[in-house]
Amino acid sequence: MADFDSKRILLGVTGGIAAYKAAELTRLLVGRRMEVQVVMTEAATRFITPVTLQALSGKPVFVSLWDPRIDNGMAHIEFTRDADACLVAPASADFLAKLAHGQADDLLSTLCLARECPLLVAPAMNRQMWQNPATQRNLEQIRRDGIVVLGPASGEQACGEWGMGRMLEPCELLEDLEAFFQPKLLAGKRVLVTAGPTFEAIDAVRGITNRSSGKMGYAVARAALEAGATVTLITGPTQLTPPRGAKVIPVVSAQEMLNAVNAEVDAADIFISVAAVADYYVLNPSEHKIKKDAHILTLELAPNPDILANVTSRPNPPFCVGFAAESENLHEFAELKRRRKHLPLLAANLVQEAVGSDTSRLTLFDDNGVHALPPGPKIELARALIRHIATLYAATNS
Ligand code: C5P
Repeated sequence: MADFDSKRILLGVTGGIAAYKAAELTRLLVGRRMEVQVVMTEAATRFITPVTLQALSGKPVFVSLWDPRIDNGMAHIEFTRDADACLVAPASADFLAKLAHGQADDLLSTLCLARECPLLVAPAMNRQMWQNPATQRNLEQIRRDGIVVLGPASGEQACGEWGMGRMLEPCELLEDLEAFFQPKLLAGKRVLVTAGPTFEAIDAVRGITNRSSGKMGYAVARAALEAGATVTLITGPTQLTPPRGAKVIPVVSAQEMLNAVNAEVDAADIFISVAAVADYYVLNPSEHKIKKDAHILTLELAPNPDILANVTSRPNPPFCVGFAAESENLHEFAELKRRRKHLPLLAANLVQEAVGSDTSRLTLFDDNGVHALPPGPKIELARALIRHIATLYAATNS
């Protein structure tokens, strides 16, 4: 079962053009098997109809404090009592002002005031409204009150202007909500992650690489961020969007990855080496594109440095985690690798189950033995791995 199954979310929608994105957000939350109860302000119904959100959430949508459908007439208490979180998206400048001052003159603002669950808001407004000192003052106040502010982003606005105030995209809000629910097991810790393949040049256009997609490494970086860590992601060439909030250092070759790791590792508490580093590089790559002819072409390959082994052999290494992709004898090869590289923890998977895929199966090897994680999406495996790392890290540093 995923961490979010049956989480109950009260989704508040206020009046702004970004209200149309509440439809997509509802669909995404329901897709994660969360229970979504939508409450709209009167102004929000001018931008998107309650029927749309009712169809997508599968529950009646409420707008008025005086709605006779609420049995005990206590709508302002009813909807948040069993909610795990309340998310207001979009949150207009007017709604932020109400929150800052504890005003409660409609159903949504009354629910927010009477709630027991955490409150997250996703502001959306014109850039001038966002920059207005009154709005900034209100934001400061609501943050002080423990309300979590998600975004906004900068970009093109519905009014045609550019600037700060765009609501985060629904998929980003979903990520932020998922992150909110994760325990902050690595708060204050600095985590360095390598991900993806490396690319070793043969000539100006060709090279040797491997089929690593980078998905597992990016998922590990995201899970570490969700756990409250500061994350640096050193990544070989991939097609992926890095997780928001990570410091990203793109590299191409193994040597470049080694240089980047050496530059960052002193500042890391934990090093998670997920990258599928090429074992060899091409000696004397051609500066220009090699012309084809009828002759056999021989490439001379030299071994790449082992980045992880370099880190574990430092005088004061961070807590190091290795990865191993094997095509056979997983247990035997993984444990041998763990010992050879002096690793407190190694995560191993089968190439045929992992490479390029969104799901995988991971087995963890540490001094206490072997731990098989339930198979699933890479982000869930990454979260389980981060939980395991946090436990071992705490034990070795207590
Ligand atoms: O020996 P093998 O390549 O299977 O080891 C895998 C582990 O070592 C992974 O954690 C990988 O990121 C790391 N590695 C490395 N530098 C290399 C080769 C592997 O850091 N040149």
